[in-house]
Amino acid sequence: MIDKMRRLTIWWLVFLGGLLPLAGIVHGGLYGDLGPNPVEAVLHGTGDWALRLLLLTLAMRPLQRLTGRPGWLRWRRMLGLYSFFYATLHGLTWAWLDQQWDLSGMLVDVVKRPYITVGFTALALLLPLAATSTRAAMRRLGRRWQRLHRLVYPIAVLAVLHFVWLVKADWEEPAIYGGVLGVMLVLRIPTVMLVLRRVLGLERPILARRAGDSP
Ligand code: HEM
Repeated sequence: MIDKMRRLTIWWLVFLGGLLPLAGIVHGGLYGDLGPNPVEAVLHGTGDWALRLLLLTLAMRPLQRLTGRPGWLRWRRMLGLYSFFYATLHGLTWAWLDQQWDLSGMLVDVVKRPYITVGFTALALLLPLAATSTRAAMRRLGRRWQRLHRLVYPIAVLAVLHFVWLVKADWEEPAIYGGVLGVMLVLRIPTVMLVLRRVLGLERPILARRAGDSP
C-alpha cells in the first residue's frame, strides 16, 4: 500500500514536472518576460526541452542496467511522450509564428535549409513512436514494437545534429547534448556496462537481490 502511494506520488511529480517548462513559457508570454524576440525564445525553450527529455528518456535503460532496478523503465513512456509534446509545440511555433502557416515557404525551408530538414525528419520519426506508445500497440506489434522503438537512437542523433547545424558560434550547448548522447550510446554496449558496474562495485548487491537476500 505504501509502495503504491509512493509510486503514485512520484508519478504525479514526474507528470507535473513535465509541465513546468510549458508553464514557464506561458508565464513568460503572458507577462512579457520572453525577451526582445519572444518567437525565438519560445522556439528555443520548446526545442531545448524536447531534446533534454529525449535524452532523459534514453537514460532510463542505462540506469536500469546500472542499478538492476526495472522501475526506471516505467518512466520511459511519459518522458518520451513529453519530448514528443515539446517537439510538436516547437514545430507548431515554427509553422505558426515563424512561417505564418505559409505552406510553400515551409516546404522551401524543409528542403533548402539542412538543419530544418534534419529537425523535420526527427519530428516525423517521433510521430510513429508516440502513436504506438500504448500497451495495446505494444501487444499488437509484438517484436516489431521493439524494432520500431529503437528508432529513438537515430532520432536523438538527428535532434543533436539539428542543434549543431543551426548554431553559428557558441558550440558549448550542442556539444554538451552531443556528449550526453555519446555516453548513452556507449552505455548500450554490454561490455561497457559490465565494466562500469564492476568499477562502481554494483555487481554484488544485484546478484544478492536476485538470490532473494534483500528486497
Ligand atoms: C518540424 C521540425 C522542426 C523545425 C521546423 C525546427 C526548427 C527550429 C528552429 C527554427 C530553431 C531556431 C533556430 C535559430 O534560433 O536560429 C530550432 C532550434 C532548436 N530545435 Fe528545432 N525544429 C524542429 C524539430 C526539432 C526537434 C524534433 C528537436 C528535438 C527533439 C529540436 C530541437 C531544437 C533545439 C535543441 C534547438 C536549439 C534551441 C536553442 O538554441 O537553445 N527541433 N529549431
